[in-house]
Amino acid sequence: MPVEIEIAGPGEVHPDAVAVTVTQPPEGLDGDLAALVASGELRGELGEAILLHGDDGRLLAVGVGARDRVDSETLRSAAAAAAAELGRVGGTLEWRIDDTLPLDAAEQAAALVEGTVIGGYSPGKWKTRENGGPKQVERVVFADAAVRESAERAALLAERTNRARDLANTPPNELYPETLADAAVALADEQDHLTASVLDPAEMEALGMGALLAVGRGSHNPPRLIVLRYEPPQPTDPNLVLGLVGKAITFDAGGISIKPAGGMDAMKGDMAGGAGTLHGIGAIAALGLPVRAIAVIAAAENLPSGHAFRPGDILTAANGKTIEIVNTDAEGRLVLADALWYARREGATHILDLATLTGAMEIALGDLYAGYFATDPAWSDRIFAAGARSGDLTWAFPLHPRYRRYVDSSYADMKNASTLRQAGAALAAEFLKEFAGEGPWAHVDMAGPGFLDRGRGDYYRVPGGTGYGVRLIAELASSLA
Ligand code: BES
Ligand code: MN
Ligand code: ZN
Repeated sequence: MPVEIEIAGPGEVHPDAVAVTVTQPPEGLDGDLAALVASGELRGELGEAILLHGDDGRLLAVGVGARDRVDSETLRSAAAAAAAELGRVGGTLEWRIDDTLPLDAAEQAAALVEGTVIGGYSPGKWKTRENGGPKQVERVVFADAAVRESAERAALLAERTNRARDLANTPPNELYPETLADAAVALADEQDHLTASVLDPAEMEALGMGALLAVGRGSHNPPRLIVLRYEPPQPTDPNLVLGLVGKAITFDAGGISIKPAGGMDAMKGDMAGGAGTLHGIGAIAALGLPVRAIAVIAAAENLPSGHAFRPGDILTAANGKTIEIVNTDAEGRLVLADALWYARREGATHILDLATLTGAMEIALGDLYAGYFATDPAWSDRIFAAGARSGDLTWAFPLHPRYRRYVDSSYADMKNASTLRQAGAALAAEFLKEFAGEGPWAHVDMAGPGFLDRGRGDYYRVPGGTGYGVRLIAELASSLA
């Protein structure tokens, strides 16, 4: 359930706590808060959250840092610190809007709700101990009715983001291609105008999807191609179909080119792109955006076995192109190859793919930004703007015909990896471009921000899935509506 948003005047509700933002230096405070400033305990630093009990109940002073540097990301992080401080209370939280901040009331409310809900997430769903996790904020109250719409949108997006995190955090013995497909079918059941269909290996075979099938061959859990279609009753532009393509490797051991043991457990999160895609199109449907959309999620498990594909194999993808396998651990680009082709075949005019694709991108950008590659300048601008607005940050990387040589193969149309230790993320993008068909396409490599080894010190305070992509997709679709 999304956090409930309530608009209420003074005395109409009795929140468990009232939260106020405090700038650095603090300004315009009186009473208990002014005393805390005088004593040096309250400074207004970002990340600070001080809970005090007064005659009117709990008051939460939440630092936001220097006033002129406050933006949505700052407020999300500040709200997350507040949610953490309220972890033993939960319940109803009233947020006070500060008219002197350089953001309008609706923007403040949205950021505060997102930060409260995303920041309050606990990954410990598999702990058996009762009361193991923090108490959740279940209701957020504002005084100003003008913020209702943006606060409700933010509540919905934050909840879908957390649902995508749940999928990424679900262990690979529970989440494999078939159970991910079940989640997609259940999502479609809860939403009007959203339908799901699932292709099994025999159907993939009939379509010639030799790349996706090869990756899935090493596992007892067979692959699935998961398709979600959103057909709003009155699309703004009936000729535009947003294509969302997700990598969903439910566990990536690397296959025959097996990964080292250390940290391999984090590869349960190699389906984070697929999870963001699934709940991204779910969010589009839940918001009722007038944009036609199709999501194609390539789900497989990459394991070594006697049935596994090998280095040296040559595969034929659904678009007829042949691929020499150099490294079975470069599997994401293979499953995406067939999924991109399928998305175009099903009518996608503008494509965004999301994938935890390369360690090289994580090395380049760390855990904050995803890097993206786009064929079309206008589409690229949209991806950048949607990233900045949504908080799922994106930064442009280059495609260039002279990078194509990185995937040249002596035996086949292309190879899936190279022994050069250069531009690994760009190499993967050049590979994908061979399958992206005609029309705008952007590839988002979210290997860094998709799944965290540790909290990030902002509004992602815990390890694991981030739900990256849900907010990006909703913002992108809103920009097309
Ligand atoms: N899923 C990994 C990429 C990855 C690495 C995601 C770290 C998140 C964190 C991907 O399938 C992979 O193994 N890529 C290889 C490609 C190489 C063999 C060409 C990589 O990046 O090392
Ligand atoms: Mn891999
Ligand atoms: Zn992978």
